Amino acid sequence: MRVTVVGRLDTETLIEWNGALRASCVEDRVGVWWPSDETVLAQFADPLPGRRRWALVHRAEDGSLAGAADVSAGPGEPAEVTIGVLPAHRRRGIGTVLWEAARELLADEAPSVVQSETWSQAGVAFAECCGLAVGNSELRMLRSAVAPAPDRHAAADVEIVTWTGAVPDDLMHDWVRLNTRMREDVPIGELTRRVTSLDAEWVRAHEKRMTDQGWILVRAMARLAGEGVGYTVLFVAADGDEIVVQDDTFVERAHRGRGIAGLLKSENLRQLSALPASAAARWVQTTTAVDNHPMLALNRAIGFEVADRSYALEGRFAVS
Ligand SMILES: CC(C)(COP(=O)(O)OP(=O)(O)OC[C@H]1O[C@@H](n2cnc3c(N)ncnc32)[C@H](O)[C@@H]1OP(=O)(O)O)[C@@H](O)C(=O)NCCC(=O)NCCS
Repeated sequence: MRVTVVGRLDTETLIEWNGALRASCVEDRVGVWWPSDETVLAQFADPLPGRRRWALVHRAEDGSLAGAADVSAGPGEPAEVTIGVLPAHRRRGIGTVLWEAARELLADEAPSVVQSETWSQAGVAFAECCGLAVGNSELRMLRSAVAPAPDRHAAADVEIVTWTGAVPDDLMHDWVRLNTRMREDVPIGELTRRVTSLDAEWVRAHEKRMTDQGWILVRAMARLAGEGVGYTVLFVAADGDEIVVQDDTFVERAHRGRGIAGLLKSENLRQLSALPASAAARWVQTTTAVDNHPMLALNRAIGFEVADRSYALEGRFAVS
């Protein structure tokens, strides 16, 4: 059994690695967003500060890739492990060998918990076999990217500001505050929450990384009497992709139930349809926790339909 760690700048093998993970994790699911090779190369060339990441490959006898693992960890944060084994090579212990290799790599980091995500019952069974338990489950939903933006209304005093690219300087203070709340508030079931301390510098560094990875950020903020009370974000591939990713949507607790999230999402979809880079898009993809009933109801109301379900698992590594 041959497992190797791919070099951060080994472009050819990183592309092979990404292809093997994509093929084993996407399988027959419809309209799944997966990072492009360019995105992956940019991620490894400029890793997230304070977080280590390894690409592992397992080769078959003939040298072709049979499986791959994506492993990352940062001090005091949950480690993340995703394993993919190509269908022709399953149930021969390759997933287990990759898992053991990940465990050895992470021994130095000594993470308190490890998390993993899967979309299949095989993935859940495998991860449970590795000692993890389901801690959250999300529905992946798709909406046609060419359907007209829905008409939504909120109280007349709600103002929606939209823009693409960097957060305007005069909105930065509110942007940081709302993003921080979102991270504290978004339902994640039984999973350990990752603590990210956000500030303007973090936001600018994130914007640069996203641009380097080929993304256009399409965003909207809701304001009441000049103060930000909610926001939403779409990720659009600059070079055209079938999938647009609906990322965060957040409204401050005190202002929920007034139609603000719906208005934010509809205005941002309107902004998306006017963006030349979205011409190739077929689907907008979003994921929402199975118990996040308000957001599931809103997504359905604006034309999203459930495509499939994912499971996030968590456990403690018995670091030897
Ligand atoms: C999940 C996955 C990585 C397993 O890879 P694998 O090489 O087949 O796994 P192993 O052969 O090492 O299996 C180890 C154990 O996991 C469990 N398991 C694996 N696949 C299973 C399945 N389809 N049904 C039930 N149990 C399964 C079994 O207990 C198995 O032991 P056994 O074969 O002795 O019964 C592979 O099916 C895959 O790539 N799936 C799609 C991607 C995915 O879901 N990845 C997320 C997992 S982190």
